Amino acid sequence: MDNTVLKALKERRSVRSYKPQQITDEELKAVLEAGTFAPNGMGKQDSWIVAVQNPQILDQLRRMNAEILGSTSDPYYGAPTIVLVFGSDPKKWGNSIQDGSLVLGNMMNAAYAIGLGSCWINREMQMFSTEEGKALMRKLGIPEELIQAGLTGIGALALGYPEGEPRPAKPRKENYYRIVK
Ligand SMILES: Cc1cc2nc3c(=O)[nH]c(=O)nc-3n(C[C@H](O)[C@H](O)[C@H](O)COP(=O)(O)O)c2cc1C
Repeated sequence: MDNTVLKALKERRSVRSYKPQQITDEELKAVLEAGTFAPNGMGKQDSWIVAVQNPQILDQLRRMNAEILGSTSDPYYGAPTIVLVFGSDPKKWGNSIQDGSLVLGNMMNAAYAIGLGSCWINREMQMFSTEEGKALMRKLGIPEELIQAGLTGIGALALGYPEGEPRPAKPRKENYYRIVK
């Protein structure tokens, strides 16, 4: 079928190299807003989305994530914006991870639709379970009662203008889907 949304969904790729230039506020808000319209369990809008563009906090995120990876390179590939997605303690809200994942998915597709690059970056759960992570949540303006109730890092996006071409999609595996009538 010839459809621009279907085409974008197939063409979006994870971007692992970014231009240093910051994206515009208009672009950022378009991506964030797409995240807020993701479907979510019982319509609770449980997820919290925090876009970081502050250089010191970006450096801190890069360091914290790299420490968990045991790497010296930047896990966010130099992206000038990092978007963090949090959700309630998954033991207390069973849709927390699903909700946050759909927010991230919407934002990745929205980013592609407006010419930005993005990549889901992991390890937020570990990063924000430490004392340093909780202190950082406070600095990011997340309400204390949510932190105390176990707000959890679901994932993050590296976001920016793509540098070069991303890796092409791998061929889809055989029998990825089946139709039973
Ligand atoms: C749950 C999840 C975690 C991921 N974590 C990382 C990551 O930490 N670093 C990274 O470079 N890519 C990460 N990715 C991106 C995947 O590697 C990428 O989506 C996959 O290879 C398919 O490529 P595509 O997005 O270009 O289609 C993650 C993707 C998902 C959905």
